[in-house]
Amino acid sequence: MLLQDPTPLLDAATGARWLGYVSLFPVVGAAVFRILVRRTGSGWPDMVPRLERRAAAVGLVAAGALLIELLLKLYLQARAFSDPTLPLSMEDVHTVLRHTSWGSGWHLQFMAAILALVGYALARRWTSGWILVFAAVLFSLFATPLTGHATEHPWGPRIGQLVHSLHLAAGSTWLGTLAALLASVYPATLGDPRREQVLAKLVNAFSPLALVSAGTAVALGLVLGLTYNGGISAIFTTAYGRTMLVKVGLLGGVLVTGWYNWKRVRPALGAEPGAERLARSAVAELVLGTLLLAATAVLVALPAAGIGE
Ligand code: HEM
Repeated sequence: MLLQDPTPLLDAATGARWLGYVSLFPVVGAAVFRILVRRTGSGWPDMVPRLERRAAAVGLVAAGALLIELLLKLYLQARAFSDPTLPLSMEDVHTVLRHTSWGSGWHLQFMAAILALVGYALARRWTSGWILVFAAVLFSLFATPLTGHATEHPWGPRIGQLVHSLHLAAGSTWLGTLAALLASVYPATLGDPRREQVLAKLVNAFSPLALVSAGTAVALGLVLGLTYNGGISAIFTTAYGRTMLVKVGLLGGVLVTGWYNWKRVRPALGAEPGAERLARSAVAELVLGTLLLAATAVLVALPAAGIGE
């Protein structure tokens, strides 16, 4: 029964899609982290610009990686629609970009990534750069679902895109912000005696947001899962359903480490070795998160039983 669906799990673009999600998450997370810094930084005003600059650098690197992923994805899409015996021509690339809905979605994703890159580059020096960053984040969350299943969602493309965008926003607010927090706070407080206090305050501000965004991502994930599988039985009999089960298993690991960070590591922050403990356990949570995103990168390209029923 479990071997009923022989669909191959991986395609040429699986790795590119994974890189795309792994890059998009900190693009979103660095912007959310900047809001946390602004809200909590009144006790240490000199630290705020330092943390903001770090967050902008994290966002900049992530936006650069997102652009590379988008170019790779375009190449692979054009390759898939061209004659494999001939070298890829600009004509092939133009055909994909101009004459397919995938190409229109890609264009928007590319524009959003450029906007994020410019916004983060400016935000490293000027506060006004953050306005571009927030616009780019919203634009990216809107555009990302346009090249996937969302446009064929059983409840219609508009609802499908909305649910995808919100699922993506919630997931990236959770894990992307955690990634941006770690990548910004540790280097910005290197050798600073306030590291433990700064970290404790930021993590305490992040925790309720993490709980709400993780809960929202899970709830919307269940909605997507049930609708795309078109019922319960396909979850166990199709490659799509089984890949989703792998994703849910990985999510279990992320949730356990997240719960451990919340209940055990967070209350001990503020004094040594709190920061050191958090670095270890939060990195474990993020590594499992990247595996969850790898399962997602497989999932989004598989045929789903609930589409076109
Ligand atoms: C019970 C939990 C979850 C389930 C059942 C679930 C299921 C799904 C499904 C069915 C899709 C649509 C795939 C497609 O396009 O065919 C999806 C997309 C996605 N999920 Fe989840 N998910 C869950 C939790 C999460 C969490 C916690 C995260 C991140 C932290 C996440 C990240 C994503 C991402 C990045 C996408 C791709 C969105 C897009 O490209 O439009 N998911 N998920």
